[in-house]
Amino acid sequence: MTLDLTLNVTTENAPAAPAKVTMPDAQTVTSVRHWTDSLFSFRVSRPQTLRFRSGEFVMIGLPGDNGKPLLRAYSIASPNWDEELEFYSIKVPDGPLTSRLQHIKPGDQIILRPKPVGTLVLDALLPGKRLWFLATGTGLAPFASLMRDPETYERYEQVVMMHTCRTAAELEYGRKLVESLESDPLIGEFVAGRLLYYPTTTREDSPFMGRITDNLTSGKALADLDLPPIDPANDRAMVCGSLAFNQDVKEVLEGFGLREGANSEPREYVVEKAFVGDGV
Ligand SMILES: Cc1cc2nc3c(=O)[nH]c(=O)nc-3n(C[C@H](O)[C@H](O)[C@H](O)COP(=O)(O)OP(=O)(O)OC[C@H]3O[C@@H](n4cnc5c(N)ncnc54)[C@H](O)[C@@H]3O)c2cc1C
Ligand SMILES: NC(=O)c1ccc[n+]([C@@H]2O[C@H](COP(=O)([O-])OP(=O)(O)OC[C@H]3O[C@@H](n4cnc5c(N)ncnc54)[C@H](OP(=O)(O)O)[C@@H]3O)[C@@H](O)[C@H]2O)c1
Repeated sequence: MTLDLTLNVTTENAPAAPAKVTMPDAQTVTSVRHWTDSLFSFRVSRPQTLRFRSGEFVMIGLPGDNGKPLLRAYSIASPNWDEELEFYSIKVPDGPLTSRLQHIKPGDQIILRPKPVGTLVLDALLPGKRLWFLATGTGLAPFASLMRDPETYERYEQVVMMHTCRTAAELEYGRKLVESLESDPLIGEFVAGRLLYYPTTTREDSPFMGRITDNLTSGKALADLDLPPIDPANDRAMVCGSLAFNQDVKEVLEGFGLREGANSEPREYVVEKAFVGDGV
């Protein structure tokens, strides 16, 4: 598919008729949902040739003012069997891409470079009994994909989704997704009774509160979920959040005896940044 950009060319020698500029790698937006002032999700058409492993990310974007594509890394939030692609996005007020991307509507086109990559893939972990997904903010996105992949449940008996945000409203996309899974005709039978969800807030009262790091080290999450202590023989983890979060969780996991793995050398946990930078 190509992206049609209509330019009004009005020089002395050129006709006023619009000229068409085409761009490769365009996909059509099929739906958009705004969750808060700073979070939205959207779905786009999927290139027929795009194959990816759940948990990977691609580069997406819009044409820049200079005519060059303005691209950013985005985790694919949909599972690999979905006929469309879903993304879950921040809205950074002055962000070069998201200050514009947040205004997309169904029928609009975005650029999607069909070269998926990433470390948050099942192949980068050793077999085990229980898989922990540890995310803050939009770091949930790769797990929105992995939670919907039957292979996750074929490889692990139990999956624990820990997601922490400042406020309850920021948890809503993940909450709605998890709540829909047990009755999902495709994934429901895999998920039933085996996906444990532990959402917490840190700056607003809610049923469960506190940082993931604190809830793991204090044993509160384990007690609330009625799970045994984390142990490198059984537990595997995938981590996606800010740089500070990733660093602190790594320390916690290493403290439990888990080691960082990679595609080339599977071990007990893997980490990926949910974004680059230290603040908006
Ligand atoms: C591997 C990878 C995967 C990513 N996946 C996603 C995703 O699925 N969804 C998503 O919204 N973003 C994701 N990002 C971040 C994304 O690439 C962009 O940074 C984001 O879309 C903002 O783009 P921008 O041009 O508006 O602002 P940028 O100039 O890119 O960012 C400006 C500042 O905003 C803050 N920021 C950027 N992204 C986020 C975020 N997601 N959460 C909190 N603060 C942020 C940072 O402080 C950054 O310095 C990912 C980044 C990486 C490296
Ligand atoms: N102004 C606002 O209202 C607002 C709202 C959201 C985001 N932001 C900005 O956007 C940026 C990114 O936002 P974000 O929501 O993705 O990330 P964030 O605000 O840094 O954190 C999201 C969640 O992760 C927790 N967290 C942060 N660092 C951690 C660490 N080292 N270990 C364990 N848990 C940690 C936070 O807990 P704590 O609450 O305890 O820090 C919060 O619950 C931030 O830099 C922030 O300045 C601003």
